[in-house]
Amino acid sequence: MTGTRTGLVGHPVSHSKSPIIHEYWIKHYGLSGTYELIDLPCEELATGIRRLKDEGFHGFNVTVPHKMAVMKLCDEVDMLARIVGAVNTVKIKDGRLYGTNTDVFGFTENLKAHVPDFDFSLGPALVLGAGGAARAVVQGLLMEGVPEIWLSNRTASKAEALIEHSSEPGRIRRLEWNSPYSSEDMSQVHMVINTTSLGMTGKPPLEVSLDGLSQDALVYDIVYAPLMTELLKDSRRRGNRIVTGIGMLLHQARPGFKLWHGVMPEVTDELTEMVGG
Ligand code: ATR
Repeated sequence: MTGTRTGLVGHPVSHSKSPIIHEYWIKHYGLSGTYELIDLPCEELATGIRRLKDEGFHGFNVTVPHKMAVMKLCDEVDMLARIVGAVNTVKIKDGRLYGTNTDVFGFTENLKAHVPDFDFSLGPALVLGAGGAARAVVQGLLMEGVPEIWLSNRTASKAEALIEHSSEPGRIRRLEWNSPYSSEDMSQVHMVINTTSLGMTGKPPLEVSLDGLSQDALVYDIVYAPLMTELLKDSRRRGNRIVTGIGMLLHQARPGFKLWHGVMPEVTDELTEMVGG
């Protein structure tokens, strides 16, 4: 008897830190269960998921490239996942698959854990990027009451599509991808969030100028490898508050663990250190 069987479905998955997180919590809370890496290429997704159901899995996380495709395989997808356009967490109960999205929670909880007194309502948020991660970030910001989101992406059509698909297109404005942004715009920005893959190990650098950004503004990079990206180093030098990305990975794992094991786990310093934070 293996207890609660869970895992991560993606392609590739071998690099994932999620097993460290879930296995830590299973041990920490004295539970019994597994968290397995399930590598499924696109053409095997449907049969692979059917197999998990047949084998008695209680649920699973979903990562690249299946977060959209898995929606069609779920029996139910909640409203938040539909708005974000992606499922990253599935619970299996009585042979039915329930899909949700915990990236929104991960994004905002990580920020609140680091800067508990942060007031989202004080000014616009500049969001860099319009991919899958940006959708969750934008939804989180809207839910936290950010007055306006300024969305800047290399491919303008992707930014337009994100705005159109969002729950409140009227609160999002597209900015050209042409840093430096005007100092008038930058002086109003209350937070900057990088959701692109730029600055990640092995990817090109993120070339964005923070000139004109107020000292009160917060800078959040969801890239976590490296932990201290050039954007965050630069921001810290300028005296801005910063939030690193590793906590988003940790916090997004919490609601899934709760769904499967019935315990809302905490992000401890020990766990943060274990995943390189
Ligand atoms: P994720 O799901 O992690 O967000 P994604 O959907 O592939 O991944 O999105 C990656 C983001 O990084 C996009 O905003 C992408 O910009 P485009 O929409 O123009 O592709 C951005 N990005 C990746 N490489 C980039 C580069 N060299 N210059 C500018 N933006 C880049």
